[in-house]
Amino acid sequence: EIPNPPLPLADGSIKLVNNPSHPFIPAGPTDIRGPCPALNTLASHGYLPRSGVARPDQIVTAVMEGLNLGNDFAKFLAYQAFLMNGNPLTNLMSIGMKTPGTGPDPPKPALVGGLSQHGTFEGDTSMTRVDAFFGDQAVFNEDLFQKFIATSAKFGFNGTYDINAAAELRNDRLQDSIKTNPQLVFTSPRIISAYSEAVFPTIFFVDGRLNNRQLTIDAARHFFDFQMMPADFHRQPAPVNFTMVDPLTKAIFNKHPFSPGVNHGKNNFVLQPQTPPLADFCGIYEDIVLRVIPGQYPRPHGVLRKALNKNLGFLFGAVHAEHNCTQVFPFGRD
Ligand code: HEM
Ligand code: MG
Repeated sequence: EIPNPPLPLADGSIKLVNNPSHPFIPAGPTDIRGPCPALNTLASHGYLPRSGVARPDQIVTAVMEGLNLGNDFAKFLAYQAFLMNGNPLTNLMSIGMKTPGTGPDPPKPALVGGLSQHGTFEGDTSMTRVDAFFGDQAVFNEDLFQKFIATSAKFGFNGTYDINAAAELRNDRLQDSIKTNPQLVFTSPRIISAYSEAVFPTIFFVDGRLNNRQLTIDAARHFFDFQMMPADFHRQPAPVNFTMVDPLTKAIFNKHPFSPGVNHGKNNFVLQPQTPPLADFCGIYEDIVLRVIPGQYPRPHGVLRKALNKNLGFLFGAVHAEHNCTQVFPFGRD
């Protein structure tokens, strides 16, 4: 049976999370890591299975416990990713590349590709990973990290990665991909992760005792490159939900607004006016549920349909509290 989503933490206060019961152990040769610096780090500290294969409820628990994500926010990310990249039949997902560790796949065109699967949750213009057109879209890239450092030096307070650095780096990465990646895709749902992931480090990677939204390069190096919490790292002092993240996302968008589109060849960005813009959260929710997920599951039956519907219900449960969306049912109601 599929476990229900975890409840909010009983104690959501500040806490030493790089602690003796969660020591850093580097990934072994068969352990999987992927494009998300936070999940990689949580796996290397044992908040997630160190193998890098996990159930969605384990991911929810790990990001709440290790980084103090709010319950709704954690569920939104985990169930969205699971529906795009996990195996609904076994309830397992890889946080990186596709693996037999997630069990026998449902019928194609289901991908069960893991979080590294390009064109699902993973997409172009990442800050520390190259676009899939240029190489491995999941692995840390030092040249891009040097750009992260330089942008922080130029725009961030005291050389830190803060909201101003985030706004500039996000725009730079988009403009760079428009110029150089003939296959750039920058539409829903990638636009929402691109902007929120630019903001996340200014919140969750900053020690909760300081909590000044200014990420030092040393701490950034730990999470992004070493997949390790800094020594003595404390999580956020209270659970962080959409209400905290959304205004920051809007702030960086407003510095450099854009419209969704795709490149038809280098430097030929064609707008996609029929796809929802970043500001239309419920439109993006509907795009995920009515287009992206049925793309992999056109006509699911039996246990597969039941499992998909359950997870779709969990996803909706995460969005309806803070965003007033209407639930949509691609596979009919149960
Ligand atoms: C990137 C999944 C939580 C920080 C990504 C990507 C995926 C992902 C698939 C790759 C997107 C791309 O750049 O192409 C998830 C899931 C989560 C989660 C399923 C479940 C809760 C978090 C949390 C943080 C975080 C809590 C907190 C800091 C980031 C950052 C990136 C990223 C900063 C961008 C990396 C870059 O652009 O180089 N995540 N993530 N994620 N994630 Fe997560
Ligand atoms: Mg990417």
